[in-house]
Amino acid sequence: MRLSTRSRYSIRALLDILANGGVRKPVSLRKVAERQNVSEKYLEQLFILLKKAGIVKAERGVKGGYTLGKEPEKIYVGDILRLTELDVTPVPCIGCNRIERCICKVYWDDLGEIIMGFVDSVSLEDINQRSITMGEKRRTGRDFSTVELKNEINRLKSERDAVLLVHNYQRPEIQEIADYLGDSLDLSRIASRLPQKIIVFCGVKFMAESAKVLSPEKTVLIPRFDAGCPMADMITTDELREMKKEYPNAKVVCYVNTSAEVKANCDICCTSANAVNVVESLKAKKILFIPDKNLADYVDRQTKKEVIPFHGYCYVHEFIEKWDIEEQKRLHPDARVMVHPETKPQVVKIADYVLGTNGMVNLAKKSKIKEFIVGTEEGLVARLKRENPQKKFYLPSRKPICSNMKRTHLEDVYYSLRDMKYRIEIDQKIIKKAQKALKKMIAIK
Ligand code: 13P
Ligand code: SF4
Repeated sequence: MRLSTRSRYSIRALLDILANGGVRKPVSLRKVAERQNVSEKYLEQLFILLKKAGIVKAERGVKGGYTLGKEPEKIYVGDILRLTELDVTPVPCIGCNRIERCICKVYWDDLGEIIMGFVDSVSLEDINQRSITMGEKRRTGRDFSTVELKNEINRLKSERDAVLLVHNYQRPEIQEIADYLGDSLDLSRIASRLPQKIIVFCGVKFMAESAKVLSPEKTVLIPRFDAGCPMADMITTDELREMKKEYPNAKVVCYVNTSAEVKANCDICCTSANAVNVVESLKAKKILFIPDKNLADYVDRQTKKEVIPFHGYCYVHEFIEKWDIEEQKRLHPDARVMVHPETKPQVVKIADYVLGTNGMVNLAKKSKIKEFIVGTEEGLVARLKRENPQKKFYLPSRKPICSNMKRTHLEDVYYSLRDMKYRIEIDQKIIKKAQKALKKMIAIK
């Protein structure tokens, strides 16, 4: 796939509308064309497509123009590319008659899926926030060294009475400045009993939301507003309601990788570390397990209850293939395989251990095993290597990387503490209900 001027100008024009009017105030296309140094006629053609897809709305009249058709965090780059590019495959196989037999095609198809998964997770608001941070750097002319940044972060942390919670998948330099480094369960537990007034959560949005739900009186900041979890976005409250209607006698177990609103509509939450225990703790025989179909399958195999899955999945773990793990086993015959339960059932089946991220940390530390093949996001492997320098850890050849987890850089943590952004705000009614589901989970061993 090559980005043509059509998609680049569409994105630039949409960012211009976001900066000058957003969803409310119409912006004249002539003004956008002047600012972006492109012909108005050209933009008009692109805007016909964008309007049809609901990405922009046209307002008639003297003060007319275009507004965004929906909130900028709901406009995804993938949708814009599909509208404006003729072909979104990474390398179209043109003029080759070996297509079905060609091994390269398999890789190009996989690459295409990874690229589209990435662009589908980047919103217009993400690009906007990134350009604000870059603009700030240009304006202030400050380019901190890593040591300076770490010192500044520490200074601001004590000045503001803040604490840094960091998930195991974060970049190594973020892991190094953590006050607490852990998995979703651990961090939720810690968040609920911290004395500090401000929590800076380096992870993804659902994790920071859980911290806010558990400590509503505290200020919870997430350094990157755009660090979401595509799996968490796969289920809406409406879809959950439909599911509940279909199975009125079932209880709902909701993986923490969901929005606060979805949590508010479930009976109890779980993480990968306690999913089986949570399901077993319920009296009901039927369990609606949302949103991860792979974790649901894993739980289903450990319980006699009927587990009814939703069709969500994590694109990072879904891309870990059985053949890739088998290839690693061939290369490292003495290594043991540990995988996250978000991986596919056929991968889980050939693993020696199926564990959440902290489970993997503990196994690597406590067992006598010297070599591991690790089926989860690469950030965890950085931690395993740092904490067990005498042991060896191997990733699948197609490195699993969560682009959302990797969005947070040291600069973002610094700006977050300096400017007290981005604050997690959740409606009080949702907090109350979601808190019940999270607290029930925390009470389970
Ligand atoms: P853990 O709860 O095991 O840390 O996993 C969180 C997550 O997002 C996995 O993709
Ligand atoms: Fe979400 Fe997967 Fe990233 Fe975890 S690794 S935060 S489930 S996208």
